[in-house]
This record gives sequence, structure tokens and C-alpha cells, in this order.
Amino acid sequence: MFDVQLLKGKKIVVTGGGTGLGKSMATRFAELGADLVITSRRQNVIDETAKDLREHGVKVLAISCDVRDTEQVESMVEQTVSEFGTIDILLNNAAGNFISPTENLSSNAFRTIVDIVLNGTFHCTQAVGKVMRKNKSGVILNIVTTYAWTGSGYVVPSACAKAGVLAMTRSLAVEWAKYGIRTAAIAPGPFPTKGAWSRLAPPGLGIEKKMKERIPLKRVGEHIELANLATYLISDQAAYINGEVVTIDGGEWLKGAGEMNELEKIPKAAWKLLQMKRKKKK
Ligand code: HXC
Ligand code: NAP
Repeated sequence: MFDVQLLKGKKIVVTGGGTGLGKSMATRFAELGADLVITSRRQNVIDETAKDLREHGVKVLAISCDVRDTEQVESMVEQTVSEFGTIDILLNNAAGNFISPTENLSSNAFRTIVDIVLNGTFHCTQAVGKVMRKNKSGVILNIVTTYAWTGSGYVVPSACAKAGVLAMTRSLAVEWAKYGIRTAAIAPGPFPTKGAWSRLAPPGLGIEKKMKERIPLKRVGEHIELANLATYLISDQAAYINGEVVTIDGGEWLKGAGEMNELEKIPKAAWKLLQMKRKKKK
């Protein structure tokens, strides 16, 4: 789908790049020639992923960094610039989440998620933004989710934080365009990863089955589908996309939104009967 040189020589920072969707996106970027910095808290995890990524013949740094900590973020950016000379693209992918009735949440539980998702995204954006402003060019891609605009019970800290990240994406699209910086976001529906599934779809509750039933396309997402979308959005091919959030969820959130969508449960025979009645009346 892409020229194999599409991202050749681009220097990309991927937060949370050692696991799950971050790893899948980083892998796609490496296949297309990008040099990468992957960061997360666990050095052993990012070291392992970095080894896999280097098999694509690109340069990869694995720098441990807690995105909640401004000093660690600034140091990660300094190390990146000293090794790579610059940063072209930032993928804010790191996140924390869990399911819980809101009344059971402590202030610290709420703060923890907001700190990782919203403040962490701000810390990385601010530190990398400095480099990009100097270069007068850059792309910042944020990973949100569809409940950033619908809201969702049982994940209130994450919904609030992702809503903030979406607002940041749209705000900076306007404010930082003058520095040659583009921003965009992706809102994925369910894509199986160990991190998300272990926390949001624990076995025994039938959550995964219900999830698939709810999605019009009747399946979860494949990592490569998301990775290709991210690749397009960060590439020069998407140079006129600024401030947009692209949903990739098989139609999931619209199904929940449409007031009459539940009518799909009405059997064909009942529709026929209704039609016959209408015609008879005429
Ligand atoms: C209620 C909880 C809780 C739970 C933790 N806490 N888990 N409260 N229910 N299930 C509370 C703790 O009691 C504590 O509050 C506070 O949160 C901080 O918890 P710690 O364990 O000390 O935090 P920390 O070690 O920093 O770990 C952060 C974490 C953890 C978010 C809790 O799960 C983590 O590291 N996650 C990273 C990866 C991840 O979450 N991936 C999934 C992303 S999926 P007190 O008051 O007791 O001190 C995703 C999908 C979105 O985002 C969309 C899906 C469709
Ligand atoms: P994941 O594998 O758990 O990814 C989260 C990553 O964030 C991990 O690599 C984790 O590494 C890192 N991280 C967590 N806290 C951090 C911190 N304080 N500092 C630095 N890094 C931190 O889950 P995933 O499913 O791939 O999620 C990736 C992104 O997609 C997230 O933004 C998530 O909200 C979004 N998303 C996922 C789905 C889905 O269905 N999977 C749907 C919608 C949106 P460490 O633990 O080593 O720090």
C-alpha cells in the first residue's frame, strides 16, 4: 500500500512503543524506513522490542521514560536529539486505564490515569514541540478513542483524559500550524492487546463476545489496519490533514449513537408484516 521508502530517514518518537498497538505502529514505521525512539517505563520491554525493530535495518533507541515526569521526558528528548539530530514525528500512544465503578475511585486512581494520558501527552508534546518549532516542521499524532467524545461509564478517568487529548489535538492544529507543525489523532475501537484486554475485558464476563456483536462489521480491528492509518497520517502524503481525528472502529460508536439502531433485532418477517399492513392501508 505504501512506497517502501515512505518514511525513510524520518526520526519518530513512539511513547508506549514497547507493547501492543505502539509496537505494531513502530514496526510498520520501521518497515518503511523510519529511525525510531521507543519509550516506556520498563527498560527490559522496550529493549526486546528495539531488537525486533532493528531487524528492519533502521536505527532504534530504547529510552525508558515515565511520561508523567517532565524531567524524564525532557531527558528522553535531549538523548534523542543528541543521537538522531532531530525529531520529525511524535506518536503519543502511552496510556493507562482500568474499569471501575466511578464511586469506587480514589482521587489518586483518577489522577493516575489523567497524569499518564493527558499530562503525559502534554509533557511529550511540549518537549518535542520545542524541537519541531525550531525546525519549523513536525507531526504530532495522538491516540485517543471514541469515548473521547461520547464519554463512557466505568472508564471515567480515561474518558476525561482522552477528551482532553482530543481538545489538545484540535487546539494545537490551529496554534502551531504557524510553526509548520501538524497535529492529528486516531480514535481506535477495540483492537486486542494484552495491556487493554487484561484490564478492560477480563475473562469470564463475556465482554469480548458482546464487543464483537456490537460492532457493525462484527469483528475487532487488526493491528496492521491501525498501523497503516497511522503511517498515512504521519507521512507527507497527509500534509493537508491538520486537527482531524480519524475513527477506526468498524462503525462501533455510530451503532451506539443511532437511536433506532436497535431495530436490527427485529426479524425480517416482522418487517414484511409491517410493509404488508402499510400497503393494505393504502
Ligand atoms: C480502581 C484502581 C484500579 C482498578 C489501580 N487503581 N487499578 N482503582 N480499580 N482496577 C488505583 C490504585 O488503587 C491507586 O489508587 C491508583 O489507581 C494508582 O495505582 P497504581 O497501581 O499505584 O499505579 P501505577 O503503578 O502507576 O499503574 C498505573 C495503572 C496500571 C494505570 C494502574 O494499570 C498501568 O501501569 N497501566 C499501563 C498500561 C495500560 O493501562 N494499558 C491499557 C491501555 S488500554 P490508591 O488510592 O489506592 O493509591 C486503553 C484503551 C482505551 O487505554 C479504549 C478502549 C476501547
Ligand atoms: P498497552 O500495550 O498497555 O500500551 C500502553 C503502553 O503505555 C505500554 O507500552 C506502557 O508501557 C506505556 N505506559 C503506560 N504508562 C506509562 C507511563 N507512565 N510512561 C510511559 N509509558 C507508559 O495497550 P494498547 O492497547 O496497545 O494501547 C495503546 C494505545 O491505544 C493507548 O493510547 C490506548 O488508550 C489506545 N487504545 C487502545 C485500544 C485497544 O482496543 N487496544 C482502543 C482504543 C484506544 P510501560 O508499562 O512499560 O510503561
